Formats: sequence, structure tokens, C-alpha cells
Amino acid sequence: LRGEDVIVVSNREPYIHQYRRADGGIEVQRPASGLVTALEPVMRACSGVWIATGSGSADRAVVDANDRVAVPPERPSYQLRRIWLSPEEEAGYYYGFANEGLWPLCHIAHVRPTFRSGDWAHYLAANRRFAEAVVREAKTDDPIVLVQDYHFALLPRMIHESLPDATVITFWHIPWPNPESFAICPWALEILNGLLGSNILGFHTQFHCNNFVDTVDRLIEARVDRETFTVSQGGKLTAVRRYPISIAWPPVEDMVGKPVADCRHDVRAGNGLPPGQLIGIGVDRLDYTKGIIERFLAVERLFELNPQRIGQFTFIQIAAPSRSSIDEYRHHEEAVNALAARINARFSGPAPAILLKVEHHEAARVYEYYRAAEVCFVGSLHDGMNLVAKEFVAARDDERGVLVLSQFTGAARELPEALVVNPYDVDQCAAALELALAMPPEEQGDRMRLMRRLISEFNVYRWAGRMLLDAALMRRRSKLPD
Ligand code: G6P
Repeated sequence: LRGEDVIVVSNREPYIHQYRRADGGIEVQRPASGLVTALEPVMRACSGVWIATGSGSADRAVVDANDRVAVPPERPSYQLRRIWLSPEEEAGYYYGFANEGLWPLCHIAHVRPTFRSGDWAHYLAANRRFAEAVVREAKTDDPIVLVQDYHFALLPRMIHESLPDATVITFWHIPWPNPESFAICPWALEILNGLLGSNILGFHTQFHCNNFVDTVDRLIEARVDRETFTVSQGGKLTAVRRYPISIAWPPVEDMVGKPVADCRHDVRAGNGLPPGQLIGIGVDRLDYTKGIIERFLAVERLFELNPQRIGQFTFIQIAAPSRSSIDEYRHHEEAVNALAARINARFSGPAPAILLKVEHHEAARVYEYYRAAEVCFVGSLHDGMNLVAKEFVAARDDERGVLVLSQFTGAARELPEALVVNPYDVDQCAAALELALAMPPEEQGDRMRLMRRLISEFNVYRWAGRMLLDAALMRRRSKLPD
């Protein structure tokens, strides 16, 4: 794809420039976002332009007159084009419609979605602004545009209005609910019509493809072909396809460089834990869909049922602060803090039962935790894919460690060798944790090897490659005479 006219659009930017508090210098942060983790290595490989919202305190200071900065900072290979949203736009489009409306609408975490007409107006306007940026950034009249996620449901159709020959591949990184749930959204029809401006619309699982096609069938006038899994509307065809996202393989650069023994030592020493402490690790954004509360309850039950583990086992939860101006997120953070304190008061021995670390961690640090842990617990209540599960497996080139994985993640469909659990079932999760801690090394190795083989083969380059190949085929077909 090098040299092709490739444009990626996402809300979250892959690099965030921040002023350092200490000396006013500029540092670059990588956000906690599965979308960015997956897509960034693909962009490095194919170059092009990535359009995203500017979000760092020093973001404006480093762009050129066209709001572009070449990235990655250490070895630039593509352009990051930043869009500046006003606080009102951000409140309405990002916090409001995208994250208080669509996010809870699409995840079964029993948080009620909130829809406000003011937020919708901002969502529409923000999509329009990004569409204009795509048109400005296109070098040809038939670019390949990769539209990312629920922030941009209206963008595919808007792009085609200005660039009819563009190939628009849209990927929805989160689940798609059933038609009855989706109909809750007062602008359901507009969202569907917007998405059907895509040539290809991708989801992580066949289940979500089915839900989408059922929703279209139920709510709008369009022809659904279940044989080819396409939707046609006014002569325009959208292929609805399953593309399970993944991570770069081999794992990116410095990630697995540090020996496991050093990671084990440094993580324990750095957290004031004894050298022989057994460690469980959770890595998430501090988000109510991630099941952090349920996970802590499972740790509590583990100690109730296996008192010998008190003081011997510590569960370390890395929780990246996220969307904290939304009330639901603030309440969730308070609840998580309170629960950790309660369990620690009950069950800490010489070492704490739960170590809750609410702060941003760079990827290389997170990998040290993955490599230091006996068990990684991914307990999402609902998740499109969940790349933490795949990152943990990628980090374990020593073929040790056990993955406990929620059945409600896309990843569970690809990694059945994990200990797959229902995160709402506290007893089952506690039993899985104990099983993991007691698992013989040979069995750990057998499970880990199978999972590593799958991820190495179905890596993120393959994810992007399959979408782009399908798109290329559609492009060629559309040029044939009728
Ligand atoms: C999920 C979404 C992404 C988003 C990420 C982080 O993975 O699918 O689009 O970037 O969460 O959330 P944030 O709101 O901080 O970008």
C-alpha cells in the first residue's frame, strides 16, 4: 500500500504531545486505546495520512501550517493531521453522543444510554468537519479511506457525497446490539444510512455482523442479501464482514527485550512486594464495561475460599483514567476505589490483596507487568475484541502464565485455550483464578503455544490486509461494464 492514497480517520490520535510539568519540555504519549494499538503499526507500514482530534497540551505547538505533524516521532513515516474541537464540540460529540449515547447503547453493561438533541447536533457537525478534512487530504479522487469506530457513523456517506469514487472501509470496534436495543437511539435511521455509505463495514465477530444486518432489515428500506452478506440501498452496495482485529506480530520493538526474570524482579520490587509473591494482572481503561468491580469480587472470593492465598497473592490492576468528565465514569471510579479498600482491609497479609494503580502506563511498562504475572485476568462485561488478552499472550515468549478471559469478549472466540469465564459469576471466576495459580507449567505451555500460534498467524497486518484485498476486489468489479 505504500504510495497509495490511504487516509485513516479516528477520534483518538496515535501520538499526544504534552508539555512536561517539570521543565516545560515536550513529551509524546501513546494513548490507552485498542484502536490505536492495532492501527498504528499498520499505518507505519503503509504510510499516508491519519486524521484525528488534537488532544495534548502541546499538540498545537508541533504542527505545521496545515495542522500536520510527521510521526512516529522517532522515525517519521506518515502524517498525523489534527482537527481542533472546541470544548462545546467535544462535550456534545465526544462525551455526549459518542460516549453517553452510542457507547452504552452498544455494550451490554446495563448502563442506560443518554441521548440529547444538542449532542446529536454536535455529532453531526463534527462528522461534517472530519469529512471536509478527508476531502482536503485526498490526493486523488479515489482514495482509500479507513473510517474508525462509533464516533464517525455519518462519515462514510458524507465522504461519498464529495468523493463518489473513494473506497470507504469502516470498522466498528465495539459490539453491535440487537435491533430492539438499537432502536432506542432516536437517530437510529440516520446512523444506519450513514454507515451504509461504506463499501465495506467490518465488525470483530459474525454475531455483530448478524446484529447489524438484522437491524438494517428491521429498521430501514434496504435489500439485505444473507447469502453474500451485503446490503444494497439506492444502487449502492455495502459488504458486511467479520475481521477480528489483532496486534502486531512479532510484538513491537522493545516489548519483549527485557528478560522475564528481570521483569518478575522489577515489578515485585517496584511495588514493594516480596520476591516470591504470586501476581495477577488486569490492564484496562477505567471503564464500567471492563468488569473491574466484578473482578475484584472474584479476588475477594478467591481469598474466602483459599485462605492460604492471603498474603501470598496480589492482584495488580492498572486502570488508565478515561472519559472522567462523564458522571458515570466518576461514580465508577469511586466504586472501584472503595471496593479495593474494603477488600484490602479484609484480606491483606504482609502484602496487599489488591494494588490499584489509576494512572497512565507506557506500553513498555505494561509489558513488564504481563511478563511478571502468573495470571492475567480480562473480565470485560462486554467488549468488541479486547487486545489486552492478545498482548498478554504476545508478551509471554517464555510460554508461561495463564489467561483468564471473559466469554463476552471477541477474543474469547479466538482463544478457547484461555480459561474462559462468565465475569458475572463470581464463584466461577474465583475458581478459575485458583486453577490458574495451581496450573502445572506443562499445561501453561500447551495452552500458551496454541494461543501464540493463532495470534502470530492472525496478526493485525493480516486484519488490515484482508480488508484492503476485499476492497481492491470490489474496486475492480465496480469498474466492469454492467
Ligand atoms: C475503545 C474505542 C476506541 C477508543 C478507546 C479509548 O477501544 O473503541 O475508539 O479510542 O476505547 O477511549 P478514548 O475515548 O479515550 O479514545
